Amino acid sequence: MDTLYDTTSLKLKKEFPDAEDFLPLNGTDHVELYVGNAKQAAHFYKTAFGFQSVAYAGLETGVKDRVSYVLQQNKIRLVLTTPLGEGGPINDHLNRHGDGVKNVALWVDDATKSFEETTKRGAEVAFEPYTIEDENGKVTLSGIKTYGDTVHVFVDRSEYNGPFMPGYKSWESHYNPKGAGLEYIDHMVGNVGWGEMNKWVDFYARVMGFAQLVSFDDKDISTEYTALMSKVMTNGNGRIKFPINEPAEGKKKSQIEEYIDFYNGAGVQHIAVATNDIITTVDHLKDQGVEFLYVPETYYDDLLERVGDIEEEVSELRKRGILVDRDDEGYLLQLFTKPVADRPTLFFEIIQRKGAKSFGKGNFKALFESIEREQANRGTL
Ligand SMILES: [Fe+2]
Repeated sequence: MDTLYDTTSLKLKKEFPDAEDFLPLNGTDHVELYVGNAKQAAHFYKTAFGFQSVAYAGLETGVKDRVSYVLQQNKIRLVLTTPLGEGGPINDHLNRHGDGVKNVALWVDDATKSFEETTKRGAEVAFEPYTIEDENGKVTLSGIKTYGDTVHVFVDRSEYNGPFMPGYKSWESHYNPKGAGLEYIDHMVGNVGWGEMNKWVDFYARVMGFAQLVSFDDKDISTEYTALMSKVMTNGNGRIKFPINEPAEGKKKSQIEEYIDFYNGAGVQHIAVATNDIITTVDHLKDQGVEFLYVPETYYDDLLERVGDIEEEVSELRKRGILVDRDDEGYLLQLFTKPVADRPTLFFEIIQRKGAKSFGKGNFKALFESIEREQANRGTL
């Protein structure tokens, strides 16, 4: 398995000169979801998405109030946490939001300095820096609040060699399904409420030292019925990209508004995961039961006129509903899952980049029409 702690990569050049990058961020450390049943969710992410068992914390490791399963696929690490008793902040989070992303943890060299730099620029404290230790070394953590109830945890694990963190033990399972070829998190999108996009764009610029990468307006992202606005924020080395969406007025309810209604506020809308071979990855995920948004076959009729020459056979893309978009630097292939839990909130994007550094703006209309069909089925359009 690829290590997440490959320090040679830290010498990456700064790609976005506008980003102050005072932290700096080395990459995504992990994403922690609060879920109703971590044991079964872990099975789902292993079976359907091809994640591997890594670590576990719970009653058997001396943790009394919760259980957490850690899963990994190449550089993508998920933590699934469920409370064991009644009351408390995790139950409150579940009651309010359903299954969803609580912590977007970022890998830093110094969690205390990251905390100081961001809080002095106005970040609200989620938790003060603290260090935990076991026989494998120590990890320092700190946390700041971002949109909704979501938290950015800063993780310094430079002096740690265990499976995940102190308090966790290795999770050995006899069930180790084949990976799906998911390599790393390409971007994670936040949905925020009406009129709040610029506030959070400003937060990432001012508090985190990010730069704005691309901007869309509501004319870019709308169909006959629904609309949204989106801006993309990136850190200096480009490893962390956070598009921020807000709903926009349309004839019918924006998909962002539907999300906000069911999540009861702002939160992570989708996690985009990169593959080097989207056709093989999508075949594998579909075989394992992952559900994708349906794209009308007419999307492919004039595809090559829209995107120019591509290496893939259009018939192979059409068969799988894979979308294509091009920008000045190349093209990308992408596909979106249906929501992964019961509420129409969090979903995944599978993306393969062939030079393009954008996010599939050219596909938004086809995609949103597909989402509108799902909204109509749910009676929420
Ligand atoms: Fe995306």
